[in-house]
Amino acid sequence: MGLKTDMKKIKVAILGTGFMGRVHLEGLRRTANVEVAGIAGRTLEAAQKLASGFDVPKAVTDYHELLADPEIDAVHVCTPNALHYQMSKDALLANKHVLCEKPLATSVEASKEIVDLAAERKLRNAICHNLRFYPMVQQMRRMIEDGDLGDVLAVQGRYFQDWLLFPTDWNWRIEEAAGGELRTMGDIGSHWFDLAEHLTGLRVSSLCCDLQTFHKTRKRPTGSVQTFTQSATPGVDTPVSTEDYGSVIFHMGDRARGTMAASQLAAGRKNGLMIEVCGSKASVAWSQERPDELWVGHRDTANSIYIKDPGLMKPAASLYADLPGGHSEGYDDTFKQIFRRFYASIADPSAPADYPQFADGLRGMKIMHAESESNRTRAWVDVAK
Ligand SMILES: NC(=O)c1ccc[n+]([C@@H]2O[C@H](COP(=O)([O-])OP(=O)(O)OC[C@H]3O[C@@H](n4cnc5c(N)ncnc54)[C@H](O)[C@@H]3O)[C@@H](O)[C@H]2O)c1
Repeated sequence: MGLKTDMKKIKVAILGTGFMGRVHLEGLRRTANVEVAGIAGRTLEAAQKLASGFDVPKAVTDYHELLADPEIDAVHVCTPNALHYQMSKDALLANKHVLCEKPLATSVEASKEIVDLAAERKLRNAICHNLRFYPMVQQMRRMIEDGDLGDVLAVQGRYFQDWLLFPTDWNWRIEEAAGGELRTMGDIGSHWFDLAEHLTGLRVSSLCCDLQTFHKTRKRPTGSVQTFTQSATPGVDTPVSTEDYGSVIFHMGDRARGTMAASQLAAGRKNGLMIEVCGSKASVAWSQERPDELWVGHRDTANSIYIKDPGLMKPAASLYADLPGGHSEGYDDTFKQIFRRFYASIADPSAPADYPQFADGLRGMKIMHAESESNRTRAWVDVAK
């Protein structure tokens, strides 16, 4: 077999130059047959800085310039949540395939509109629920699918971080206008619920949610702040409406039950997603901070810890592990895995969409809508189908 040197590379534009802009850029560098052709930032300085570090030829402030370039085939939306809808819509209208960061938009209606638009235009669309792509998450999924756990009885867990613990901590996510009405449930709770549904194949049918904003006022810095960093400038007192913490009890399908909590004020928890599924035969639990391990619980034999090893994993799950046992695969690698599948489906229009799509983003938005309504009305709410 010869080298496919004549194959045209898929050209990509990245919108946003922050935490995710850089992570996506590095992930794309690990993706075959893809070339990053342009970067759009809020300031030219930020766009040029990121572009020059990775030899990306074009850096702009107006993303429409990249959308107008007929050479560009696909766009990654890595900007604050409130911009996702407009940027994704403009990209689809310019006939670009779109991979959008989560959450898909800030309302159910806006999400639905871009789901429909992508379908109408027959363009590939992905929502970046990259956490599905940890090898041991896929092992857990296939164990559940193969019936190793029996019937799913309960799903529980949490997603805890501490980077917004102090009232002096600030980020655009805190402001409803930039991040959306729900902050913690949108930023990290959305990842948790995507995993719960992806792993079990069940749908959250109804829920009861309680939200709390511990810091009703925070010090808003006068300068801008990079995600996960602290401001160097003193802040001014600013009222906060978005929640620091949320907890949800929920039904999955007819029989299974669930509980979860999400917090950005949990001291010591850096990226502490934990998810556990208890079945009628066995249980499994996985923690993002120890990604290569999977705890398996039994009633009548000893519990065990599986260590990631593609040779010992379920064959369908081993496809998500590139390295042998003992060679860790973590957060950064999940982007490589989702991008690989997204671009394979662009290169081959007959390939399945083996990744979360805009429809999954709409699903997440329906859960968030129900969470908000439940908290407001202090009642159980059905999640729209
Ligand atoms: N999948 C994940 O694991 C994950 C992790 C973190 C963040 N995210 C998501 O990624 C998105 C970005 O978050 P982040 O943490 O990178 O934030 P960030 O603040 O680090 O970066 C956001 C970037 O958007 C840029 N920007 C703002 N307005 C712009 C405009 N009009 N045109 C071009 N660029 C503009 C900002 O300058 C900044 O560089 C959010 O939607 C967030 O929910 C996902």
